[in-house]
Amino acid sequence: MSNLIDGFGRVHRDLRISLTDHCNLRCTYCMPSEGVPWLPRNTLLSPVELMRIVEVAVAEGITEVRLTGGEPLLRPDVVDVVAAIHSIENAPEISITTNGIALPRLAQKLADAGLARVNVSIDTLDKLRFKVITRRDRLDDVLEGIDAAKAAGLAPVKINSVLMRGINDDEAPALLRWAIANDLELRFIEQMPLDAGHTWSREGMITAAEILASLRTEYHLEAVPGRGAAPAERFLVDGGPHTVGIIASVTMPFCGACDRLRLTADGQLRSCLFSTTESDLREPLRSGASDEEVAAILHRCLGGKLAGHGINEPGFLQPPRPMSAIGG
Ligand code: GTP
Ligand code: 5AD
Ligand code: SF4
Repeated sequence: MSNLIDGFGRVHRDLRISLTDHCNLRCTYCMPSEGVPWLPRNTLLSPVELMRIVEVAVAEGITEVRLTGGEPLLRPDVVDVVAAIHSIENAPEISITTNGIALPRLAQKLADAGLARVNVSIDTLDKLRFKVITRRDRLDDVLEGIDAAKAAGLAPVKINSVLMRGINDDEAPALLRWAIANDLELRFIEQMPLDAGHTWSREGMITAAEILASLRTEYHLEAVPGRGAAPAERFLVDGGPHTVGIIASVTMPFCGACDRLRLTADGQLRSCLFSTTESDLREPLRSGASDEEVAAILHRCLGGKLAGHGINEPGFLQPPRPMSAIGG
């Protein structure tokens, strides 16, 4: 049983750890082409510091760890990090959210180290569009990466797609056709106001309702009950067995069931993607904090967790830290 309960009674079991804020793509909804001011190297948590936090978090009730970025596979020691997390007592389930480019090289090594699953981001199957959206010509590498993940047994491979108005919003049925043919679990994500350039607009966002309407031009979709704390609402496609998910963070927030805590690559704990305050773990760790003190910081951070992200309320402010440095 988890001790990590916030002021609204939400029990936290999922720790999302950003391993780096760097990325080898430049998705327009995330980062400008020149990148962002990167986190100073000396602020990044070492593997030893990371493991201190993971061990305390698991002792407090975390059962799932997701490694994110930026692009987590850019971190040179990512396989060692997975192996270290996998080797602790009561090891949590470990998953990674990645752009997939490094999977041809790393999928098998990660699986051998104890990785259970990967989620791969891909917003289009068209080479030219991919280059426009990510500002890099790497679609073939991502597709190869998805194959490598499947071959390594990292199942189910989930696919994350963000649709953008006038760019790829006509592609939902084609993406679903491809996902079904390749035995992948596709999820469409509503774009959230977390990009470094603060370019998000409600009008530009393709809503869950629009995505469902587009899919329903070609498929019969039936909601699958029993979502739990998952961000994605899943739909059975044409009677199954395949499903498609919609992550409607903006139009249908799921904060009431949130079970996630976030750790940034520079050792800041966040109770929400949209938190405007953070709890520092790095300096306490570097000054010799005990496990009890680390646990107390986890609990204090959760104590300040708000009921929801507030995107739909007047006065909402995007957090200063961009998505690429929070981890999604
Ligand atoms: P699974 O456990 O594999 O279903 O993963 P997931 O969907 O929780 O994680 P993933 O990293 O693949 O994230 C998919 C999308 O959901 C990304 O856009 C995330 O930013 C978003 N997401 C994940 N967790 C949360 C959350 O707690 N709140 C909100 N608003 N969005 C989230
Ligand atoms: N809104 C929604 N999803 C986003 N992602 C990155 N930026 C945003 C955003 N502003 C997605 C990526 C990846 C996951 C970690 O989050 O496409 O799949
Ligand atoms: Fe949890 Fe914040 Fe996401 Fe809501 S927006 S589900 S509170 S992390």
